[in-house]
Amino acid sequence: MQLQRRNRILRQSPAIRSLVAETILRPADFIAPLFIDEGENIKTEIASMPGYYRMSLDLTVQEVKLLWNMGIRSVLLFIKCKDELKDNTGKEAWNANGLMQRSIKAIKDAVPEMLIMTDVALDPYSSYGHDGIVKDGEIVNDETVEALVKMSISHAQAGADFVAPSDMMDGRIGAIRNGLEENGFTKTGIMSYSAKYASCFYGPFRDALDSAPGFGDKKTYQMDYANRTEAIKETLMDVEEGADIVMVKPAMAYLDIIREVKNVVDIPVSAYQVSGEYAMIKAAAQMGWLNEEKAILESLTSIKRAGADMIATYFAKDAVALISV
Ligand code: PBG
Repeated sequence: MQLQRRNRILRQSPAIRSLVAETILRPADFIAPLFIDEGENIKTEIASMPGYYRMSLDLTVQEVKLLWNMGIRSVLLFIKCKDELKDNTGKEAWNANGLMQRSIKAIKDAVPEMLIMTDVALDPYSSYGHDGIVKDGEIVNDETVEALVKMSISHAQAGADFVAPSDMMDGRIGAIRNGLEENGFTKTGIMSYSAKYASCFYGPFRDALDSAPGFGDKKTYQMDYANRTEAIKETLMDVEEGADIVMVKPAMAYLDIIREVKNVVDIPVSAYQVSGEYAMIKAAAQMGWLNEEKAILESLTSIKRAGADMIATYFAKDAVALISV
């Protein structure tokens, strides 16, 4: 054959492949989610997330030091709220001495340069396991937004660098931005879960925090996975309202959405490889059906290739170890 173009020329050795690789993962791309528990010296493996743990604050601080030394530059905090502190107002969420607020301070003290991002939603604090306040069987929007503003301000007060509202209420980004401005928090960022879908892939996370909805589902606030245009609408509104970073969640089943969002916004885009995505790879690897290391790198590279500038992932540590060899 006499060919004008032979595409395999650029694939014939590791050296040429690395020279022309379009997507490179780096440690600073990853946001490490952390599940924090009350107590001391506690490390509990999450049943549906083998190899991932909920830790007490003392161990969490050690973990954050390790993450920093590995090159990871941001953590996303979630706390497990005690049952007796849960109610339908979510007020524990803005308790200045709550576990989240104490965690932010302790991590800031120990590793001041680490970016601390905090989950903002009422579900871990809600006796109903919903992201908002419940009235007559409905999740009410405007009262929930008021609660989320108080929660965000209290996180900023404790020292959070970014608040990350994951609730999908209408108008919360603008309200949180105003709340931060009014209280002088002009350096606190907002990473908005802008296109967050009602997804079965959050199942293991709800085990981790004991935060599954007590009734119904989250479809009146999280998005219908049938929709694409709606993701653009949600995202552009969040940008307008003052988000610094927008997020698409989950990641692997939503790569098309990540790309479309990336194409229309002029701010950084993040994606969340959620608990169920982690669980699927772990389970298949444990069965010997998938090579775990390869699945980690392929999935994360595809999320970045799709358009994510940063990725929240439970594989953050594994990925850094794999790309540093
Ligand atoms: C809380 C929240 C959830 C996740 C992040 N923040 C659960 C939910 O919306 O039900 C899911 C993260 C994951 O599955 O890894 N609003």
